[in-house]
Amino acid sequence: MSFLTLQGISKRYGDFTAIEQLDLSVERGEFLSLLGPSGCGKTTTLQMIAGFVAPSTGRVTLDGRDITQLRPEKRGIGVVFQSYALFPHMTVAANVGFGLEMRKMPRAQRAERISEALALVRLSGLDARYPKELSGGQRQRVAIARAIAMQPELLLLDEPMSNLDAKLREEMHIELRAIQKRLGITTILVTHDQVEAMTMSDRIAVMHRGTIAQLSTPFDAYERPATPFASTFLGRTNSLAGEVLRRNPRCAEVAVATTTLHVPHEGREVAGSVHVYIRPEKMRLANGDARVHGRIATRVFVGNQWLLVVDTELGRLHVAQSNIGAPPPEEGHEVGLAWTDDDLRVLTREGAHGHA
Ligand SMILES: Nc1ncnc2c1ncn2[C@@H]1O[C@H](COP(=O)(O)OP(=O)(O)OP(=O)(O)O)[C@@H](O)[C@H]1O
Ligand SMILES: [Mg+2]
Repeated sequence: MSFLTLQGISKRYGDFTAIEQLDLSVERGEFLSLLGPSGCGKTTTLQMIAGFVAPSTGRVTLDGRDITQLRPEKRGIGVVFQSYALFPHMTVAANVGFGLEMRKMPRAQRAERISEALALVRLSGLDARYPKELSGGQRQRVAIARAIAMQPELLLLDEPMSNLDAKLREEMHIELRAIQKRLGITTILVTHDQVEAMTMSDRIAVMHRGTIAQLSTPFDAYERPATPFASTFLGRTNSLAGEVLRRNPRCAEVAVATTTLHVPHEGREVAGSVHVYIRPEKMRLANGDARVHGRIATRVFVGNQWLLVVDTELGRLHVAQSNIGAPPPEEGHEVGLAWTDDDLRVLTREGAHGHA
């Protein structure tokens, strides 16, 4: 049996359903992210696991025990809340060591855990400061250190790095993931930062309006989105409305504007009105083998890439080109675009919502 399971979990607030019949199994040692737009129910789900919000229906089990009715402090779960609260009258070290002291861990061992945790979050040397003497990002890191120091079996993190600058966040992603693996702490991370979810997770649950739209590895979530929502939420993509002309054994022939595209359907049913998707980085500027021609409407340089918007007979296409030297043609120029059919994805327009 999985380490943590949510079975048929719903949460209603009056007439409003925040979570709808959610099932989720998390394996021991796994790092799973709940990823989705604001208001989709990420915090609510996490709070039901932590025990601070009672589900309207369903069951939560941890390590084989039904904990649905168990009080939060009896669950032995480490939590870093979206609005993290530190004890204002305690130093950084005392905040991080608080739970360990409650557990009556000997002072020397406690000091070691505290300094390890503070090193992880890059706050070594600030042990004696008080929360009011820290920046927002530093306070957030104390909250992470406090949870890590406890080495809980299950760790729940709600947007724990939202106040950190981009570079520090990137470093923390890698280090937090390493320590999570080393200690084998089963972790659920709530985030709307896609890069954060991709970098750290074994699996990502893409949430949409109180349900899980897709549950898969980061690679599959990006490369094989299961629903139109997942296709457009995760990363950037071009979405082209079309009609299926014919379903061949391996691919669907889809009419988009004046062109016919051959899209692999991977055994799924696709018929009628569909969307064809292609990622900006899967298209390239081409001359001889161009599939479509158009005019560059916008050209933006972002360092590692050039982002182009090209007006074509298929519609407006976003194209990303790696910066490998010479700049692409300027705005206003005509260009050809090419791609590989294997990089196209197709999903039925309506009724394609569902569970993965
Ligand atoms: N106590 C409450 N009473 C009524 N509605 C609530 C309550 N708590 C949450 N909601 C609603 O439930 C939905 C899900 O909220 P939740 O906090 O889980 O979203 P979230 O995915 O964490 O969003 P964010 O990314 O903004 O933190 C929202 O529409 C929210 O307004
Ligand atoms: Mg939230």
